[in-house]
Amino acid sequence: MAMLNDKMETEIVRIAVQKSGRLQEGSIQLLKESSLRFSNGKDQLKTKAVNFPVELLFLRDDDIPQYVEDGVADAGIVGENVFIEKQKNNKLVNRLNFGICRLSLAVPRSVEYTNIQWFNGKNIATSYPFIVRQFLEQNNIQAGIHEISGSVEIAPGIGLADAICDIVSTGSTLLSNGLKEVEVVLRSEAVLIAGPDLSAAKQSILDKLLFRIEAVQKAKNNKYILLNCPNEAIEPITRIIPGMKSPTILPLAKKGWSSLHSVVDENDFWEKIDQMKALGAEGILVIPIEKMIL
Ligand code: PRP
Ligand code: ZN
Repeated sequence: MAMLNDKMETEIVRIAVQKSGRLQEGSIQLLKESSLRFSNGKDQLKTKAVNFPVELLFLRDDDIPQYVEDGVADAGIVGENVFIEKQKNNKLVNRLNFGICRLSLAVPRSVEYTNIQWFNGKNIATSYPFIVRQFLEQNNIQAGIHEISGSVEIAPGIGLADAICDIVSTGSTLLSNGLKEVEVVLRSEAVLIAGPDLSAAKQSILDKLLFRIEAVQKAKNNKYILLNCPNEAIEPITRIIPGMKSPTILPLAKKGWSSLHSVVDENDFWEKIDQMKALGAEGILVIPIEKMIL
């Protein structure tokens, strides 16, 4: 690990993560992939990384923006939905590419839903009153908002509301409660938030962590690719997979052939593989990358 200077060693960044729920595992996994090691499990209220000046606080996700604003935590990992709803003095540092979900309006399956006008005069149960109010205003809908903090999905079934607005990830919660999703209000994912004015030392620790997180994220979006090709195909294949600077070319024992190593974006590699096969590439291996620093 890189040497940290004296000032930083005495400083520690406290990051609030969800105590239990959808984002907890992903949050810890991301920090572990960033090479932070934690000595004890998630049953604790807090835990220190043994090899990086970070302490995790395990809190209810809905409370995290407030703790970050108050400076009890320096940073936090929450759903963008919670970040937007709470309207606290937090800044969004980075999107984290996990915990992807949507905040949606849902109605009982028996409802013959045609369009958003259906919501006029209805009552909506939600834990996201701010976001829902904004959405209704933008769409010129007059509806009641009934704020509840949990188990929103049971509200229509017990006669508390006509509809709900809640997080949908797999959709299984809606399904098992006889509801159907009818309007997407917001798309969301986990985000790293931080307090408005961190000390220079804390900011520098957070920047180091962010650098690691970005390296992990880039790596996830890319694959290391190895293939064999006839020498005359090296140039056209290089144009398809230019890699980080340029591909590595190694001669094969078989005359007129080379091994070409490069990096390819996960999202378009199937299409590229077809093009390369057409140029004579064979023995193609695609390997995950753990960290990637440009
Ligand atoms: C949300 C929501 C549902 C569930 C939906 O809770 O309230 O319970 O996720 O997921 P599904 O579509 O995969 O069934 P969330 O984890 O955001 O946390 P909360 O309990 O803090 O509201
Ligand atoms: Zn919550």
